[in-house]
Amino acid sequence: MAGYIDIASEIAREAGAIQMSYLNRVAYEIKGEQDLVTEADRASERLICDRLRTSFPSHGIVAEEGGGHVSSSGYRWFVDPLDGTTNFAHGFPVFNVSIGLEKDGELIAGVIFDPTRNEMFAAEKGSGAHLNNRPIKASAAKTLRTSLVSTGFPSTKRSQNVNIHFYYQLSMISHGIRRAGAAALDFAYVACGRLEAFWEFKLNPWDMAAGILIVREAGGTCSDMYGQPVDLYGPHVVADNSHIHTELMKTFADIFDGKVVYPLPDVKSALSQP
Ligand code: IPD
Ligand code: CA
Ligand code: CA
Repeated sequence: MAGYIDIASEIAREAGAIQMSYLNRVAYEIKGEQDLVTEADRASERLICDRLRTSFPSHGIVAEEGGGHVSSSGYRWFVDPLDGTTNFAHGFPVFNVSIGLEKDGELIAGVIFDPTRNEMFAAEKGSGAHLNNRPIKASAAKTLRTSLVSTGFPSTKRSQNVNIHFYYQLSMISHGIRRAGAAALDFAYVACGRLEAFWEFKLNPWDMAAGILIVREAGGTCSDMYGQPVDLYGPHVVADNSHIHTELMKTFADIFDGKVVYPLPDVKSALSQP
């Protein structure tokens, strides 16, 4: 397996440089509802796909902006050429390149590169997870009460998204919630202990592939929000530090069941309180 993350890291670094060269200099287009895309997304994807094809001509590629191709090799790269496009389009410096590899349906390598901080998160199955070549581990926090967690909201079908319920309940029982706007970095931050958990509905395989492997290799756990095995094409995903997994699944199960511990406050009456 040696070589996959070395090559993928090199490619991600080049793609990150492309992103930085476009930052604050590019207009966005709308590709659907509130789903933005820029020339930086497309330029980054062209580079990544070209490089992957040169290095691994027999492998398949699934890439967000459509530049991939199928293959029967069993190897498949998942490419998010610019994760955090909405941030990028507004000059909000939280975005990254995410590249994951599966073989016969099993994730075996992944890199996530944040060009704004020069941080390369990488993992190969069975070899641990690394940040800039140093080993990383998920956090040791044991309870949700002492956890910093994160989530995200999709850019399409927002009116059908139920995450606000989960967001509110979790905000009441944790140190707080972050919604930074780049799912791959949410995974990476669980892997290196900056966050205890991350969850989101309706992500795509390119948002998750690298991140899931990096979290697992850092000792964390990934599943769906019912605690079932994670599916790259599934409706929701959770990544956590393993220690809070059981408590988190119980909390989510209650919310799925409508057992709401903290009802949303009524705006007028809450504001009229001293
Ligand atoms: C998005 C980001 C965001 C998440 C959205 C994703 P994109 O990816 O990861 O944090 O909340 O669901 O679609 O479109 O910027 O690559
Ligand atoms: Ca993404
Ligand atoms: Ca993207």
